[in-house]
Amino acid sequence: MFTLTDLSKIKHSFSSLHLNIAKNICFWKSMTEKIETETKKARYEYLEDLPGIGPATAQKLKELGFHTVESLAMATVHELEPAGISEKKALAIINAARSSIGIAFIRADELHKMRQNVLRLTTGSKALDGLLGGGLETQTITEFYGEYGSGKSQICHQLCVNVQLPPERGGLNGAALYIDTENTFRTERIVQMAKHLNLDPEKIVKNIIYAEAYTSDHQMFLLENADEVIKENNVKLIIIDSLTAHFRSEYIGREMLASRQQKINKHMHKLIRLARAFNAVAVVTNQVMAKPDMFFGDAISPIGGHIVGHTSHTRVYVRKTAHGPIRIARLVSSPYLPEGEEIFKITENGIEDVSEDEKTKSSGR
Ligand code: GTP
Ligand code: MG
Repeated sequence: MFTLTDLSKIKHSFSSLHLNIAKNICFWKSMTEKIETETKKARYEYLEDLPGIGPATAQKLKELGFHTVESLAMATVHELEPAGISEKKALAIINAARSSIGIAFIRADELHKMRQNVLRLTTGSKALDGLLGGGLETQTITEFYGEYGSGKSQICHQLCVNVQLPPERGGLNGAALYIDTENTFRTERIVQMAKHLNLDPEKIVKNIIYAEAYTSDHQMFLLENADEVIKENNVKLIIIDSLTAHFRSEYIGREMLASRQQKINKHMHKLIRLARAFNAVAVVTNQVMAKPDMFFGDAISPIGGHIVGHTSHTRVYVRKTAHGPIRIARLVSSPYLPEGEEIFKITENGIEDVSEDEKTKSSGR
């Protein structure tokens, strides 16, 4: 039984519940309107178009490696400091750049839409693509690690060709940017691979923008200044082959480890931001080192330790086998795919699947 006071209390709480629901609806409505107006905000094409950036500031920003609105949208306040820009102004510039390219607070459904923008690039092997959930993803970093001759650079060469294919053939209709630290890039290999796919080798070679990095600082400088080249050439694949070789040979000894890791971390973050800003695939290669003190588990581990591990989203360990061109790829870590192994082969044509016949032969040996 309810007393009169109980009833009036219930009525009161219902009306306040109503009021809360109405308030919530109002809140969401205004939030939605805010988001919609945010996305309708001005689109800035050049640095000088952004509010607060005059020719002198634009020049300083370019010297720091920020040539495009897209790269500024991914910058941190701290990174703009050397251009003599105050913290407040830097924040305003970054926010304007962000709203211009449509990065602001977003609703989960919009986040879902952004994920749908993620594209996939074929490796040339269906088995390897399958291991990676349908190919290499844009907006993230994929790392291939393994010992010398395991096929890391060959995979990179193949991706440079495949990225130029139309989407129905597993490509992204884009160009490639290749940062080579060991002088192992060969146009002859590109020509062979292109011919095998019935593509015009001359056109394919023209669409690969190549830079050799002589030192780790040079390597970082190249990436920091890559945004304009990426935008102008519709680059959809950014490769650093190898990510760690220079760092490994220049930063020797325990006392240099911390600064080496700090630099690699910065370099990898720059790469992620470029991949996101331009919806491109990012690939790094990495050597391995033996861990003599390891009693259990794998006695081989990739260089760069946790820093590289945390910043590359997908890690693939490539191994040679006793069966000539056949290689084993192991998916070691991925944000959502299970670990697993697949085989592929490296031939004159490039990266290919192993035929059933070859599989039977190699397992029988
Ligand atoms: P490092 O950079 O030294 O760490 O090695 P990597 O993992 O980058 O090795 P890379 O991709 O350069 O692989 C070299 C291997 O690919 C060679 O040992 C060959 O087995 C194979 N390969 C390269 N070119 C050809 C080719 O034209 N035909 C065939 N059949 N195999 C090739
Ligand atoms: Mg190599």
